[in-house]
Amino acid sequence: MCYAIPGNVKSIAGNLITVDYFGEKRKARNDFYDLRVGDYVYAQGGFVVQKIDETDAVEILDTWKELFFELKKTDAKLSKLYNDKPNLDKGFLKIIDRATYGKSIAHEEALRLLLSEDPDEIEVLHKTANFIRQKFLDNSCCVHGIIEFSNMCVCQCTYCGINSENHTLKRFSLNTGEILEVVEDAVKRFGFKGIVLQSGEDPSYRSEELLDLIKKIRENYPVFIFLSVGEREEEFYRKAFDAGAKAVLFRFETSDSNLYSKLHPHSSLKERIRYLELFKDIGYIIAGGSLIGLPGQKAESVIDDFMFAKELGCDMYSFGPFIPHPDTPLYSHNRPDAEYVLKAISVLRLIDPYGKILVTTALESINPQARRQALMGGANSIMLNLTPKDYVGLYDIYPDRATVDVSVENQIADALQLLKNIGRAPTDLGI
Ligand code: 5AD
Repeated sequence: MCYAIPGNVKSIAGNLITVDYFGEKRKARNDFYDLRVGDYVYAQGGFVVQKIDETDAVEILDTWKELFFELKKTDAKLSKLYNDKPNLDKGFLKIIDRATYGKSIAHEEALRLLLSEDPDEIEVLHKTANFIRQKFLDNSCCVHGIIEFSNMCVCQCTYCGINSENHTLKRFSLNTGEILEVVEDAVKRFGFKGIVLQSGEDPSYRSEELLDLIKKIRENYPVFIFLSVGEREEEFYRKAFDAGAKAVLFRFETSDSNLYSKLHPHSSLKERIRYLELFKDIGYIIAGGSLIGLPGQKAESVIDDFMFAKELGCDMYSFGPFIPHPDTPLYSHNRPDAEYVLKAISVLRLIDPYGKILVTTALESINPQARRQALMGGANSIMLNLTPKDYVGLYDIYPDRATVDVSVENQIADALQLLKNIGRAPTDLGI
């Protein structure tokens, strides 16, 4: 099974095209190909990533057709909303009611939901979030692959196991050839249409090398590229966009500037935000977010982070739990409960009915059931780990990461089985 459905180009207006998928129309931006009405394309993240042969497209569409509608039916059934708990608190139900119509909810309302300890309310919250996801975004679920290509890092983030002060960690860095081999497998063998290139902040990896890597990937593989390489010079990000990377995964970690400074002795929140604004200005698709359950972080601050991410115009959200690492200054703190993070994910869905919400590996790491639960509570995106097995254990940002010991084949099989069970199509139809 592949991770995208071919779309048929219906109209073209400059570099914006309209694509049809079994009668559903979506928009996509075309920066790479000479297209005509009637052509078939794959789009990811709202960008055309490949033009495909009509015969191939028709064949692939034929294998998808039945499944496409069958998955939608399953999803519609599982995301129905009926209130079998009419006696819940009136204030709570009022917030839920408004949210089901896609109306934005206020800070104090979001906080009221996140702080709820009532199991009936929490159940209704998750169901409402799933209903909203289905109503506004339908059943597609992005399945991207992440390649962690270097754990060298100059930053001193006090929560992160690969921070520069952790001298016990063995460091690694894959060269361009090694990364291209992983991409080759990801795209040609496994059918990925979107990949994330992630590393610590590693200045020894020169910007020219990264630009060359992006160009080589775009020249040889029809894949949507997310960069997740931290704070680099403005010039690099401008050139990387032109070279073919169209998205960045870049968390602001917390929107509380005091907490930010405590956790990041080397940097400031102001600088972090400057980057996000730069990315927006360049035209990148942005996946942003923060850590949930940081020491000293209140529930109010989590809601601040959600509101802040929405205001920034994030296209995708990446919010995951803080997990204490034994070789960092924060080793003795507690991690949050998975239930709290799941609640937060559902609240985020009520805050933004339209953004993509990622189920983070960190959440999957603290509870193996969490991927399913998060997808049934508002999330609609997952990431599989493609880092070669000799290195994946060394990308030790937090302990006991889920899937480090699971082969790519098995990660794919598990993901597809789960998505099928809950009626989600492993594809990104775009905007
Ligand atoms: N727990 C959870 N997430 C972490 N990250 C770094 N350290 C930890 C930790 N201890 C996350 C950061 C970073 C991403 C690559 O990994 O949020 O943005």
